[in-house]
Amino acid sequence: MNESKKFSGKIGFILAAAGSAVGLGNLWRFPYLAAKYGGGTFLLIYLILTVTFGFSLMITEITIGRKTGKSVVNAFGALHANFRFIGYLAAIVPVLIFPYYCVIGGWVVRYFTAYMSGEAKLAAGDNYFPDFISQTGQPIIFLLIFIMATAIIVVFGVQKGIEKFSKILMPILIILTIGIAIYGLTIPGAAEGFIYYIKPDVSKFSIDAILAAVGQLFYSLSLAMGIMITYGSYMKKEENIESCVRHIEIFDTAIAFLAGLIIIPAIFTFHNVEESLSSSGPSLMFIVLPKVFSNMAFGDIIGGAFFALVFFAAITSSISLMETIVSMLEEKLGWSRITTCITVVIFSFALALPSTLGFGAWSDITVFGMSFLDFFDFISNTVLMPIVALLTCIFVGYVLKPRFIEEEISRTGEFKSRRLYNITIRFIAPAFLLLILITSILTKFNINLF
Ligand code: PHE
Repeated sequence: MNESKKFSGKIGFILAAAGSAVGLGNLWRFPYLAAKYGGGTFLLIYLILTVTFGFSLMITEITIGRKTGKSVVNAFGALHANFRFIGYLAAIVPVLIFPYYCVIGGWVVRYFTAYMSGEAKLAAGDNYFPDFISQTGQPIIFLLIFIMATAIIVVFGVQKGIEKFSKILMPILIILTIGIAIYGLTIPGAAEGFIYYIKPDVSKFSIDAILAAVGQLFYSLSLAMGIMITYGSYMKKEENIESCVRHIEIFDTAIAFLAGLIIIPAIFTFHNVEESLSSSGPSLMFIVLPKVFSNMAFGDIIGGAFFALVFFAAITSSISLMETIVSMLEEKLGWSRITTCITVVIFSFALALPSTLGFGAWSDITVFGMSFLDFFDFISNTVLMPIVALLTCIFVGYVLKPRFIEEEISRTGEFKSRRLYNITIRFIAPAFLLLILITSILTKFNINLF
């Protein structure tokens, strides 16, 4: 592989992979889950799972990528011809997620421009969000802006595109996150929200809380969709995988924790917590938070900075999704990068249309009772990702054998968590994944196990 198709070194790799990991999930889902499942209790569960479950899955994917030097389908194919199908299943996930991720990315750009053009008060209005997403033209224009911004970075390749932009955007993202969190915590009344966020409430400890934490964790670390395999294939052989994974995890968890520090105390001070947290995702970010900002001193600036932060987090994730698709096609079809990128943009744009139109012109059409966006999200996150992760654990744990992974990691020094890895990948992770898969599908169809 040509050298510019690799990350130049450890920092480039960590920032790009952390860029993928830190995304909308950290900003709008983690704080919501933490507040719902007992604050400190959830934080603790999440932390323990990160260093065991998340660590083992991430190390597996990066190692598979680096060892084979191939994109997701061929990586599994190279390891074992009969298990190439896991690669195909994993490859479907970014193909499904990328389009609708860009729809949401477009909303973020819309809000950012609203704050930049002095429309903050309007954005805090009750109907601003539903009015915006139910239109046809505007959301499509912002979707196009977001998808093109992603493509422009990806077309420049691994080192000159992804690595270079991650090295610029990720430090800005950290500074913005810390800055906004500190500002939020100095607002009178914030202390109460802070305590609510970190104080453990053991009464909310439940199997549900654990499953929610596992689900959030592997979505947040961008696992089970070929991304870490693809990025791993661009990692140089002399880099220490174990240490990189630790850094990525710290990065991802720290930003998620800080996002909670921004959101929970602010909501606590300016809004009704119970009501705000009854909804996660889009309505928290696009309806509740603009209201919160509008009540805050310097709220317009803070809101603008916040949506800039969300934009950076979203675009570094979307480039990883697009790169995973592009690398696969390049390898398979032998096309040039630019042709591949144009093809992916056109195809993904077409696939994004039902998701965006589903909130307006096509809102009468549902799939199994879900909007298009929710349906794509359901198939990828709830069905395919746990299946891919489970199959990967079984394949590595019992067919390939953990030794295979351990050998690659030991190339650069002792694999410190070898025993933990061995047990997690063979027993703990598969058990958890099976449980997640079953319960989340049942929950979707309103059947409660616990
Ligand atoms: N890890 C990202 C997050 O936490 C989610 C993501 C999903 C990123 C799919 C890339 C691809 O939001």
